[in-house]
Amino acid sequence: MIELLNIRKTYQMGETEVHALDGVTATIGDGEFVAVIGPSGSGKSTLMNIIGCLDLADEGEYRLNGRLIDDYTERQLSEIRNREIGFIFQQFNLLPRLTAYQNVELPLIYQGLPMAERKKRVMESLEKVGLANRMHHRPNELSGGQQQRVAIARALSTHPTLILADEPTGNLDSHSGREIMNILKELHKEGRSIVLITHDHDIASMASRQLTIRDGRIEHDSAAGGAS
Ligand SMILES: Nc1ncnc2c1ncn2[C@@H]1O[C@H](COP(=O)(O)OP(=O)(O)OP(=O)(O)O)[C@@H](O)[C@H]1O
Ligand SMILES: [Mg+2]
Repeated sequence: MIELLNIRKTYQMGETEVHALDGVTATIGDGEFVAVIGPSGSGKSTLMNIIGCLDLADEGEYRLNGRLIDDYTERQLSEIRNREIGFIFQQFNLLPRLTAYQNVELPLIYQGLPMAERKKRVMESLEKVGLANRMHHRPNELSGGQQQRVAIARALSTHPTLILADEPTGNLDSHSGREIMNILKELHKEGRSIVLITHDHDIASMASRQLTIRDGRIEHDSAAGGAS
């Protein structure tokens, strides 16, 4: 469960302050599939970075599965990221020198899992995204859609309860984008919580709940049926 209470994040740009998040309050339950939609610069990625424990809010309270995250050390945050959260980014963020297999294996090496268990998880994850037959390819030997599927396999390999995706279809053609969305819907059916950021209303409509963010505030929550 994600509980955000009056979250604020301000960036100082020279003389001016940018209120990237200006008092965000929202609760996302276990197993929900939520799309965060809003114009460029509205604070979507800033919000995802806070939910994903990549960054801390300046003000407000953030609880993840009941734990108050605001005072966590960098070490505690990275532990939560590695064990509980799977990240998918617009730019895929695969390591170019590693094969698909090795990219998916990397977070498992950080976790210190033995090789046999790593192999099982890597194969299971690559099979889930339909890429077991591409495991020895490097990213530049894969299409954009395939690279994003490897990134999803990497996000899945640690068995996270929460998946955060920031514009995962933003660099893809509509066919590959639909494939990615079908995989995310499948993961949702399996019970994982998913928070998906997108500009695209068609993509957002595939989630079960839409949060609209504008100027660092939640303007509309489809679950509440009004502004919150
Ligand atoms: N590290 C930073 N330093 C200064 N300002 C920042 C920083 N990160 C974000 N901002 C500002 O905060 C605001 C929100 O940025 P954010 O990246 O969250 O927007 P976004 O909704 O993800 O936009 P996009 O759809 O273009 O990705 C913007 O005005 C942006 O310029
Ligand atoms: Mg963004």
